[in-house]
Amino acid sequence: MPILPTQVSTPRRLFVTTALPYANGSFHVGHIMEYIQADIWVRFQRMQGHEVHFVGADDAHGAPIMLKAEAEGITPQQLVARIAAERPKYLQGFHISFDNWHSTDSPENVELSQDIYRKLKAAGLIYSKPVEQFYDPVKGMFLADRYIKGECPNCGAKDQYGDACENCSSVYQPTDLKNPYSTLSGAAPVMKTSDHFFFKLSDPRCVDFLREWVGDRLQSQVANKAKEWLDGEGEKALGDWDISRDAPYFGIPIPDAPGKYFYVWLDAPVGYLASFKNYCAKKGMDFDAFLADPRSEQIHFIGKDIIYFHTLFWPAMLKFADYKVPDNVHVHGFITVSGEKMSKSRGTGISPLRYLDIGMNPEWLRYYIAAKLNANVEDVDFNPDDFVARVNSDLVGKYINIASRCAGFISKRFDGKMLEKDNGNAIIAAMQEAAAPIKELFEAREFAKALREIMSLADKANVFVDLNKPWEVAKTGKPADLHRTCTDALQMFRLLTIYLKPVLPTLAASVEKFLNVGPLAWSDAASLLPADHRINDYKHLMTRVDPKQLDALFEIEEERAKVTASTPHPATPAKSGVPAAPATNQADPISIDDFAKIDLRIARIVKAEHVEGADKLLKLTLDVGALGTRQVFAGIKSAYEPAKLEGRLTVVVANLAPRKMKFGLSEGMVLAASGDAPGLYLLAPDAGAEPGMRVK
Ligand code: MSP
Ligand code: ZN
Repeated sequence: MPILPTQVSTPRRLFVTTALPYANGSFHVGHIMEYIQADIWVRFQRMQGHEVHFVGADDAHGAPIMLKAEAEGITPQQLVARIAAERPKYLQGFHISFDNWHSTDSPENVELSQDIYRKLKAAGLIYSKPVEQFYDPVKGMFLADRYIKGECPNCGAKDQYGDACENCSSVYQPTDLKNPYSTLSGAAPVMKTSDHFFFKLSDPRCVDFLREWVGDRLQSQVANKAKEWLDGEGEKALGDWDISRDAPYFGIPIPDAPGKYFYVWLDAPVGYLASFKNYCAKKGMDFDAFLADPRSEQIHFIGKDIIYFHTLFWPAMLKFADYKVPDNVHVHGFITVSGEKMSKSRGTGISPLRYLDIGMNPEWLRYYIAAKLNANVEDVDFNPDDFVARVNSDLVGKYINIASRCAGFISKRFDGKMLEKDNGNAIIAAMQEAAAPIKELFEAREFAKALREIMSLADKANVFVDLNKPWEVAKTGKPADLHRTCTDALQMFRLLTIYLKPVLPTLAASVEKFLNVGPLAWSDAASLLPADHRINDYKHLMTRVDPKQLDALFEIEEERAKVTASTPHPATPAKSGVPAAPATNQADPISIDDFAKIDLRIARIVKAEHVEGADKLLKLTLDVGALGTRQVFAGIKSAYEPAKLEGRLTVVVANLAPRKMKFGLSEGMVLAASGDAPGLYLLAPDAGAEPGMRVK
């Protein structure tokens, strides 16, 4: 008998979170990747019989949300509510099993943030001092650096941000800019002084505590970063943290400090506790008792860009406010698409909603992401060909295949009944023994290794089926042999299902139904289905990916190119949930600054070509004068013969972020007019215009 995993003695008590997404935008595939990673780990822990509370929330506060709401003529609360309303579609769609979803703009968060602040103050870790900062006299607000532009102090280039020049790459302070202006109102900012509150991170108590806290709990790459920050000297010495912002600000008021609000990053992580507290109230659980229980573990899943907040500020805030400190912070890298970084603000990459809308199976993505994730802070690349290969050859070709080749015989020939179990089958025994090492891999978030292990077991099962050829035995062999082979193969399939269940929860539920068993737990790997156990009829469990679906997934790019090239108001296609602005309605007003952000240039179409496989696009090579040559995909195939376009002038949006499309990189967008009737009309300048000239 193999040594079998034993049932857990004392279940762990886990409080698990993912980073709280900013509530000014929809989820992108980076968020979904983070949730999939955490969800797999959480489901795995639940299968061990542990107590797990998995919560998330929207990060609602801050200037960007306030300004975005203002621009839309709604309140920040309305904006946050609109975004919150669309969250479940994504979370349910990808089977993310949060126990609660809340908001940092909530009574629990106000209470907890203010409580933490008061305790930090009582501990002598809060002080205030005057800070001189740019102020927009028209808007009546202090300006974060990202809202200030001006001329580069070094080369004089216009419209440069306050940190570095895009033209000459020199680095400087916002106060160094010549002729600075506020991007919010265009007004010249003035220097103004205001008292700010600081959290004394540099206090020896904090530094000592953090050194000890970092210890060896974190991933090595993360611990190294944290230590580097803690040990920094001179210019790199650990600084105190400015935790206040002046009104107008969408945030939580600082107690006894009228007109002062907590900086969003102070109350954001407190939102973890706020969501948990809200959940405890709903469940009748004792929030304080949970946090006070030394057995409770608090674990945060986050991305690599927010390590500083989670390994320095957050543990120190909690420690010196006498709250439970995090037990661990699990950091992941970023997801790239075909090797390219996706941009948060422009939302390039894969649209998670589109993925679901076109009927792609969410568990394909869960499987694919799991197959690429390890415990390091490494980026994960979504590669369409690799995706098709892994899902079709591994998931369907190896795992599903076992059941689909054997189940029918049990149903048709043996009345759905299993033969007695065969304790001598070495493959089954090996699979049962693998429960322990696979468990270790899931625990350590080495999902790629776990899946490799599971798939190598699936290989063994397939070799077993291949050698025993049930389809031949069914015709010419002994029924008992057929029964033996198919019973054993289904035992193997059941074991593999247990190991894959954290990754493929709904597929596992279908298998449970098919095998006629209750919800599978990890410890079920120690046993097998008994003799005469009756299974249900096999229904196909999972289809293969059709590579055309990936074309459709990326085609949003093509459609968007078409829509943007052919309507005066750039709009997303209705399919993605945002209806295009009807031609009769004028779009919302924008400021001249907003308009100035668009770098329109005259371009000469030097080459125009058909694109193999694209029914709407032409590939244009543009000469944009001083800006060089650009390749642009334009949705104008229906209206223009490529040859007729070559040589003519048109207008291109030159600073549109390059987009990776199925057919290649598109480095801009040409402008065309259209109405309700068919027809598409490319813009053209009057005679005399030259490539590279700015259109304004
Ligand atoms: N609101 C803050 C977090 C506050 S936590 C108390 C924030 N929000 S975010 O929406 O920008 O990011 C949320 C999470 O998504 C972060 O963990 C971030 O690292 C992660 N990701 C953002 N882009 C990502 C990828 N391209 N790939 C993977 N994760 C990425 O930061
Ligand atoms: Zn410069």
